[in-house]
Amino acid sequence: MSVADCWESVRMGNPEPDDDGHHPVRARLLAPDEWRLARDARQAALRDSPGAFLPWRPPESSWTEDRWRESWRTGLWAVAEAGTRTAGLARLSMDGVDAYVESVWTDPGFRRQGVASTLVRRLIEGKRPARRGAVYVWVIMPNAAAFSLYESLGFVPTKVTQPLDGQDRVEEQLRFSGDRSRW
Ligand SMILES: CC(C)(COP(=O)(O)OP(=O)(O)OC[C@H]1O[C@@H](n2cnc3c(N)ncnc32)[C@H](O)[C@@H]1OP(=O)(O)O)[C@@H](O)C(=O)NCCC(=O)NCCS
Repeated sequence: MSVADCWESVRMGNPEPDDDGHHPVRARLLAPDEWRLARDARQAALRDSPGAFLPWRPPESSWTEDRWRESWRTGLWAVAEAGTRTAGLARLSMDGVDAYVESVWTDPGFRRQGVASTLVRRLIEGKRPARRGAVYVWVIMPNAAAFSLYESLGFVPTKVTQPLDGQDRVEEQLRFSGDRSRW
């Protein structure tokens, strides 16, 4: 994946603040030089919703700049921004044949405004069309909001589940059907 592929941005409405001073939310793919943005948003997501994510090994809190930059070699990061505020974060991991949506998080102040949907759509659109393989997501259950989000985007349950190490919880896999009729 070329770095240039990462720089196309998608705008959700006018970037100028409205009459009430609210900035519209804008979703875009991040370039590796913006690794600090991904780091800070990921740390905010882990603080806000620890039960929704599995920290990586070693945990992101210990990652160096090089490790963050390396994460662009195996995937794409996207952020949603409202002015200078980060409204959400998501990643598409493309380490093997298949791709995995992961780290999807919307700041609580921006939920139910289409932020996560836009981020996931942006990532799937950012995947090279020639790339073979399916797009999956794992959801740590229970998470009705996430399940509903992915189903609204055309993901379908595969019925594949796996237990989480050392926890009495399971994660369930969904697969993108390719149906974009509700995009
Ligand atoms: C799940 C999460 C990412 C959704 O983000 P969001 O930006 O609010 O989602 P969207 O606004 O794009 O929602 C799109 C659709 O998903 C569904 N949805 C989202 N949140 C929902 C909720 N709390 N309850 C039920 N359905 C929900 C709805 O169908 C929604 O469409 P609608 O608002 O028109 O009804 C957000 O709640 C979050 O960050 N949760 C904590 C972290 C997390 O669970 N991440 C997912 C890990 S797999």
